[in-house]
Amino acid sequence: MSKKILLVGGCGFIGHNLALELEKKNHKVFIVDSLEVNNIFSKNKEVENVKLYDSILKNRINLIKEKNINFTVQDCRDYHKIYEIYENIKPDIIVHLAAVSHANKSNKDPHSTFDHSLRTLENTIDFAKSKKIHVIYISSSMVYGNFNGQDVNEETNCKPIGIYGSLKYAGELILKSYNQVFDLPYTIIRPSALYGERCVSRRVGQIFIENAIQGKNIEINGTGDEKLDFTYINDLISGITLCCENKNAINQTFNITFGNSRKINELLDVLKTEFKNLKIEYKKKEKFMPERGTLNNNKAKEFLNFLPKFSIEEGYVNYINWYKEFWNNFKT
Ligand SMILES: NC(=O)c1ccc[n+]([C@@H]2O[C@H](COP(=O)([O-])OP(=O)(O)OC[C@H]3O[C@@H](n4cnc5c(N)ncnc54)[C@H](O)[C@@H]3O)[C@@H](O)[C@H]2O)c1
Repeated sequence: MSKKILLVGGCGFIGHNLALELEKKNHKVFIVDSLEVNNIFSKNKEVENVKLYDSILKNRINLIKEKNINFTVQDCRDYHKIYEIYENIKPDIIVHLAAVSHANKSNKDPHSTFDHSLRTLENTIDFAKSKKIHVIYISSSMVYGNFNGQDVNEETNCKPIGIYGSLKYAGELILKSYNQVFDLPYTIIRPSALYGERCVSRRVGQIFIENAIQGKNIEINGTGDEKLDFTYINDLISGITLCCENKNAINQTFNITFGNSRKINELLDVLKTEFKNLKIEYKKKEKFMPERGTLNNNKAKEFLNFLPKFSIEEGYVNYINWYKEFWNNFKT
């Protein structure tokens, strides 16, 4: 059944990919985004490849416009403004994505991370509570902290390290408390190590490709034996879509990941199949970066029939090929 789905922070990396998929599935999609955080109007933009990123961000907006997806530019920290906008939309579901979405940036700027991540979340759920609108909150694998060499599932104790993971976990607890007190239906989704088309967040997979295209050294923070549950954006989008469409998602928390952690050196091996003569440089591991691994996704498979499809051998190659083409078209 077609639903009205509001994406708060819907012009980000995950949000715009989700909007395009939900529209394809005949849902009525509404985006509200300020475009000011990790986006086109950001004041503190990455110095590296800034023009390329602007072009990627414009590409997102063009894709959204082509599909006539309803888009409002608004800072969602402003409670009175968003209340009016959301009231006019009358959504069946709200997917809350707005945040400072990068652990390093959060540790450098906790104040604005709190504001953009938690203030906006509380505004969403305060609006949703009396109308009992299903709120889907995009949390993170960082809520778990160190994995200590074990796979984690949704029952594993959360011991986040640093500002980003702690605020993500705070968001989960606040949302659950609204469920306890106001009966607000919710779903919490924990993604991990995402990569894919039109990301500008400069996570490891993206920087590797950019450096390879430019013939620069590939820098690895650590030994490269660190494992991450690399997840292609299409797999996450299919998981979030299932949460919008399947009642089993209500009042549940899910790891939505590929479900098999791989070494950073293995990601590099895939990169080597697409680029010859890479120069690798190993550096010191980042502070406050927990040791991670596999997020067990059996619960999502069982409750939602979630079926992740893309190992890095497939998903990362797709992404590399998209990036090469975008880069070449951008240069010309
Ligand atoms: N990308 C990942 O690897 C990953 C992994 C786990 C969890 N997450 C979480 O998923 C969510 C989305 O991540 P993403 O990668 O799409 O991030 P992103 O930075 O690409 O997108 C976030 C969007 O939110 C918007 N936004 C932020 N503050 C806002 C505000 N005050 N008002 C209106 N809009 C605002 C930004 O303009 C941006 O378009 C985040 O909550 C992030 O923490 C991301």
